[in-house]
Amino acid sequence: MAEKKKSSYISGKESRKITRFNRRVTKKLESERADANKDPKLYTTVMKNPQNVVEFDNVCTYFFTDVGVVKAVDGVNFDVPRNSTVGIVGESGCGKSVTSLSLMQLLARPSGQTVGGEIRFNKGDGTAYNIVNTPNAIMEHLRGNNISMIFQEPMTALNPVFRIGAQVDEVTKLHNPEMTDEQVKARTLEMLELVGIANKEGVYNMYPHELSGGMRQRICIAIALACSPTLIIADEPTTALDVTIQAQILELLQDLKDKLNSSIMLITHDLGVVAGMADYVVVMYAGRVIEKGTAEEIFHRPCHPYTIGLMKSKPVVGQKVKKLYNIPGSVPNPVSMPDYCYFRDRCEMCCEQCQGEYPPEIKLSATHFVSCYRYYDEGTVMGYPKSVNVEELL
Ligand SMILES: Nc1ncnc2c1ncn2[C@@H]1O[C@H](COP(=O)(O)OP(=O)(O)OP(=O)(O)O)[C@@H](O)[C@H]1O
Ligand code: SF4
Ligand SMILES: [Mg+2]
Repeated sequence: MAEKKKSSYISGKESRKITRFNRRVTKKLESERADANKDPKLYTTVMKNPQNVVEFDNVCTYFFTDVGVVKAVDGVNFDVPRNSTVGIVGESGCGKSVTSLSLMQLLARPSGQTVGGEIRFNKGDGTAYNIVNTPNAIMEHLRGNNISMIFQEPMTALNPVFRIGAQVDEVTKLHNPEMTDEQVKARTLEMLELVGIANKEGVYNMYPHELSGGMRQRICIAIALACSPTLIIADEPTTALDVTIQAQILELLQDLKDKLNSSIMLITHDLGVVAGMADYVVVMYAGRVIEKGTAEEIFHRPCHPYTIGLMKSKPVVGQKVKKLYNIPGSVPNPVSMPDYCYFRDRCEMCCEQCQGEYPPEIKLSATHFVSCYRYYDEGTVMGYPKSVNVEELL
């Protein structure tokens, strides 16, 4: 215990050094961002595959905190193809929300910064943006018109002092300034009907506290979909709801996604939700993608020991077990990640190679990739994740 305390202790001198470094580096990054915001060559880009809506290409998002640099997302690569649902799973703190906030440019700046990589967003009209450098004015247009977000807790996402109708109207009006008040109300009622609210006229005049949790989440979905977005980010959309409502909400989301030809980035730690909805699955661990593939590949042939552990820890209907499997140990300290496989200290399948550096990404099929030495001889080695050396940012 004393040893542990000693290792995380930061002296006053060190603390001042960290603060000074953070101030200098964030100032420099903010000024570089301001310059990039002015140059369309830096904030527009070309999609690697025009069939993708989003491409995360070696994205590194770090937080410059008082205790050091937290590498919350460190070299993340994955795509969201058009009209598909991509499930992002992983345990608490692995960087799922920070990945989606980086895409929305909603990080707590200046301490949170995307310091490396490219996030390419396909607007669908032949333009693609590198979100990392996109100016605020364009981001404001993209958020809501092209990308929408549904949050975990519907009560906190809605304003308690305004009626439901006014809150949905506001979004419709913002995105369709040419509409008259009657047209806006008609559109709102249409949206309420679309999300399965039977008493739409009544609900239009109600306050959020007068609705149940499931109805509130439906309203949030109506607000998110009011502008027919290309991409819907749903961060734990059903965690606050009971299972039957959860199923209805997920079905509704899937249904609307098909109607609007959108894609969904579904963030959850519920493997059951992913199995039911996702076309592709991305498994994250300690800020990195450790395995990704189609839902079929991940569920029928999980390869990374962490994914295998996740599958084993899931209860199966009709199978009696004395105790559910749990993955031993915990995630390493995000401020000082080891230079070997982040899962090694918890891994029950270590081999000799695991003593070396962090494993490369290995391609097992056209869609299935895993970062684990156990598959080194089986697949094609694609490359090592690229972390950013923060000292070099100055
Ligand atoms: N504003 C912030 N300042 C400092 N560190 C942060 C900040 N936001 C997130 N982090 C850190 O980034 C890491 C990733 O957090 P994130 O919220 O993405 O996790 P998550 O995978 O969404 O977890 P959960 O499933 O609990 O929502 C965590 O270690 C967290 O402590
Ligand atoms: S690389 Fe080695 S330590 Fe890491 S998950 Fe694979 S087998 Fe385990
Ligand atoms: Mg989260």
